[in-house]
Amino acid sequence: MQPAPLMTPRREPAILALAPMQNVTDLPFLRTLQRLNCLPDFIVTPYLRSSATSCVMPDSIIRCITENPTSCPVWVQLAGSEVGPLLRDVETLRKFPIAGINLNAGCPAPLVNRRGAGAALLKNPAHLRSICRAMRNAIAPGCWSIKCRLGWESAEEFPQILEAIADGAPDLFIVHARTRRQLYAEIPDDAAVRLAVQRVSCPVLANGDISSRADAEHRLLSTQARGIMIGRGIVRNPYLLRELRGGTPPSQDEMLLYYTTLLEETGRELSHPSPAAHCNRMKKFLAYCYRDFSPQTEYNLRRCTSPSEMEELLLLPSRREINPCTPEQTH
Ligand SMILES: Cc1cc2nc3c(=O)[nH]c(=O)nc-3n(C[C@H](O)[C@H](O)[C@H](O)COP(=O)(O)O)c2cc1C
Repeated sequence: MQPAPLMTPRREPAILALAPMQNVTDLPFLRTLQRLNCLPDFIVTPYLRSSATSCVMPDSIIRCITENPTSCPVWVQLAGSEVGPLLRDVETLRKFPIAGINLNAGCPAPLVNRRGAGAALLKNPAHLRSICRAMRNAIAPGCWSIKCRLGWESAEEFPQILEAIADGAPDLFIVHARTRRQLYAEIPDDAAVRLAVQRVSCPVLANGDISSRADAEHRLLSTQARGIMIGRGIVRNPYLLRELRGGTPPSQDEMLLYYTTLLEETGRELSHPSPAAHCNRMKKFLAYCYRDFSPQTEYNLRRCTSPSEMEELLLLPSRREINPCTPEQTH
């Protein structure tokens, strides 16, 4: 018997969102998801950097909005540290066909944090509160969301952060349940997500380390969240979305179709086309897939500089050990 779509503990269909991943969840990846018919309920773009002087709007991100190849609503993410520039950029983004604006309060990249943005916003809940309030006032109902971590140093910071966010009344709240200090290590803290669910009135999505249906079911049960957001698990196995909607896990042939489609789509979008550049672009995705290959194939893929050789490596079943449904961490 085919399993049912993923449901929340309250028997509502779980919301399934694609996590933003800078230089990964780009137009070629979205086109690949569309071609495989594996689509989330919505997409959040990687962040646009909102600085005092301008909003950095890379073509690769803006085109995910203007040329969105999927039927999925797209939320655009801003990473900034000051109310003025953020509101200026909210205004600029009004002309784009977006579902809403998402504030990045979780990015751990030093370049972003040095400017007070991303996870650095969590260091000062009073300042975060003023940003959240200003965003709430500037953005239409239904269109303001935030994605955060639990704190800068420790999850003990989270209750105060949660108060600041709740004060800004977001319409959607995504929690990557780790601190900035934890980066991608340690198990996400489900109790913290549960606290968020109890505190805010909007839907809360749990994010972090979901790579199988069993992971998703477990996280929904223990967090009571309204849905989940997945990044690396979908890059490793986009058919996970299909499975979470009650479909079948991928066959080996379908995984091969994924790799070849991605190879084709990344090739179409190279700004400086060369065989090595094409392979390097593919390696950004393969970084989350290597565990599904034998050590020798992984070694060869990592060193590969020719797309045709790469395709051969990806396709030769005798050299592969694809098992994308292993419920393990994907980083
Ligand atoms: C390469 C990479 C790029 C990322 N870029 C962003 C980003 O632009 N904005 C953001 O909010 N999170 C970003 N993240 C974090 C993911 O959205 C997500 O929170 C994190 O990977 C945990 O979820 P996962 O285990 O499902 O991947 C990035 C993560 C990775 C690995």
